[in-house]
Amino acid sequence: MRKLICALLVLPVLTVITVKAQQPDYDRKVDSLLSVMTLEEKIGQMNQYNGFWDVTGPVPTEKSTKEKYDNIISGKVGSVLNVLGTKEVRKLQELVVTKSRLGIPLVFGFDVIHGYRTLTPIPLGEAASWDLDAIEKSARIAALEASAAGQNWTFAPMVDVSRDARWGRVMEGAGEDPYLGSLIAKARVRGFQGEDLSSSGTIMACAKHYAGYGFAESGKDYNTVDVGTSTIFNVILPPFRAAEEAGVKTFMNSFNELNGVPATGNNFLLRTILKGEWDFDGFVVSDWGSISEMKAHGFVKDNREAAEKAVKAGCDMDMESYAYITYLKDLVESGQVDVKLIDDAVKRILHAKFELGLFDDPYKYCNAEREKKIIGQESNRKAALDMSRKSMVLLKNDELLLPLNKEGVKIALIGPLADDKDSPLGNWGGAVVRNSAISVLEGMERYTGNQLRFSKGIQLVSNEPAFAAGISINATDTSMMSEAVSLAREADIVVMVLGEHGMQSGEGRSRAFLGLPGLQQQLMEAVYAVNPNIVLVLMNGRPLAIRWAAENIPSILEAWQPGSMGGQAIAEILYGDYNPSGKLPMSFPRSVGQVPLYYNHKSTGRPGPKKDVYWSHYIDQSNDPLFPFGFGLSYTDFKYTNLQVKATSTPEVFVSVVIQNTGEMSGEEVVQLYIRDEVASVTRPVKELKGFKKVMLKAGESRKISFILTKNELGFYNNEGEFIFEPGDFEIWVGPSSADGLHTSLFVDRLDD
Ligand code: NOJ
Repeated sequence: MRKLICALLVLPVLTVITVKAQQPDYDRKVDSLLSVMTLEEKIGQMNQYNGFWDVTGPVPTEKSTKEKYDNIISGKVGSVLNVLGTKEVRKLQELVVTKSRLGIPLVFGFDVIHGYRTLTPIPLGEAASWDLDAIEKSARIAALEASAAGQNWTFAPMVDVSRDARWGRVMEGAGEDPYLGSLIAKARVRGFQGEDLSSSGTIMACAKHYAGYGFAESGKDYNTVDVGTSTIFNVILPPFRAAEEAGVKTFMNSFNELNGVPATGNNFLLRTILKGEWDFDGFVVSDWGSISEMKAHGFVKDNREAAEKAVKAGCDMDMESYAYITYLKDLVESGQVDVKLIDDAVKRILHAKFELGLFDDPYKYCNAEREKKIIGQESNRKAALDMSRKSMVLLKNDELLLPLNKEGVKIALIGPLADDKDSPLGNWGGAVVRNSAISVLEGMERYTGNQLRFSKGIQLVSNEPAFAAGISINATDTSMMSEAVSLAREADIVVMVLGEHGMQSGEGRSRAFLGLPGLQQQLMEAVYAVNPNIVLVLMNGRPLAIRWAAENIPSILEAWQPGSMGGQAIAEILYGDYNPSGKLPMSFPRSVGQVPLYYNHKSTGRPGPKKDVYWSHYIDQSNDPLFPFGFGLSYTDFKYTNLQVKATSTPEVFVSVVIQNTGEMSGEEVVQLYIRDEVASVTRPVKELKGFKKVMLKAGESRKISFILTKNELGFYNNEGEFIFEPGDFEIWVGPSSADGLHTSLFVDRLDD
């Protein structure tokens, strides 16, 4: 600290920095600091290293730990990632603050994706809640814990729209819809960053992966992305724009190339759109090694050219490519890169550090007592439990097996995930204590106070799963199956917990098959043969193709990877203490052949169905999803009536519907509004979500729900990237999912801005 103050004291204008300013005047402070920085120090701010004992990507070999240390001391590092806990963070911060010439504090980044120590459901699960307040609160809890542990920057939210369940990272996003995805992006940014970045408990957010990563061809991670202009403007970019509007401080480049140009060196994405049209004033970090990967893409010949292209395109910080720290100085000195680009990047980074309050107190996130108190505290676990409950989607309950009776029913619990305390945590749980989730077995036993009859039935994996390594699925050992079948035979109801191991989704974990992995299908059919009264609880990180189950199993609850409190939330839902209200944020396919599958597809010139074969369809599979976007049941029933639409004098379109809870239990329903712009100069999807409201209704209660549609909802981006509204006929649906609801249409001739 002394070193920092000494460094600042030699700079007259900077003496004020140690006193917390009433009115932040960061621009002036940033300029003052910049004016005394050497070129090397400036480039140092643009350099981000991985911590030295935690690796979330391929371990770099070209720099030794010693060199990293030396670079920190000489002011050649602006940020580090994956350094966990106040003790470690403080150690590193002290190093830079006391030993480097200017003592500019480091910013500490970490993948706080769905929680830090207390994990909420995976983001795809959170999205299924359609509850923006709950999602915001969940991000707030994550920020609270992470900031207490020394972090001030999360690499979240991932706002990549994806239509491909094969892609392992769909677990990290909000699903297939740009409208829902945009609102969730905003909620998560608000949650992480709060109102004031400098207050303790908030951290910088990062909208990633900019852009197009979710459109990897054939769902294979890191694969080529080649999409049309209309999709870029109307589907891929809106959630990023929403994050930017919500004030997100940082963006992260994506690994993919977009139409032939890697995103990290993509002028159009970064300069024209993000920093140009949107006037984004935060900074952009590359993804891990994505600057140097431009060589493998075939876009640059070496790391030097990669540094040049990336900085020119607008990537401000280099995560683990060593390209900036190695080549930028020479690129500037040889006149190939204008120092103005460096200054601009450094200003953005320094600005963020000022906003975080790091110049006031570089150790403000390093309070060990706060860390001890906040991490894993009861209120965080309660919030995680609430989020878990809200994320679950009841997919089927034909014979009303659910809710279960607490007494007098003989239950058998079967399945390899039923006692798994790790898979519910998913793959992105960097700071979580592994194997710490409440399992379904624990949840149900605690809930009923009784010991359950339980059998795994099979082992799902045959190796010890690890973060960076692949997973081996058991495809041969059926030795435990007969025990499970006997248990099922004697039970009234069988609860089966099946799905994906937590390490089967996430980065680098694309799948070519979307069924239940390993021997689970065989186990399910064997159990079904002796007792068809099955409640299937699914735990998975992506939509699954579970056609057999959908046709045969009477009750199915989608629980996703539900986080630390998952087993308790599942038990509460199974026993009817919580009435499920989640709705799918992504379509479930019937088979892999349907993927990419999304409700908001285009009509084509040959929509169907038709009697002959000459329409857009499969000859061996329906076009319909197994479960559509927006779908989810409740233990009660809702009836929609009286859809009314009128264009008001404002002019806006006013839509209302009456919804009634016709069942015998209170419940929440997500009332969804979809439109179709029938004729447009750039064709529009057959349906688009443009509004939703989540309402709680008591048994028998009815309520009128209203929506207002403006140019924002009825307009679209043309191929020049302009947002326009074209008068014409619009269809409107209001209902319980993208595949159901009341329908009407109207002509809209004028809408104000
Ligand atoms: C690579 C991932 O793509 C990105 O999402 C993550 O934030 C970084 N690694 C850092 O761990």
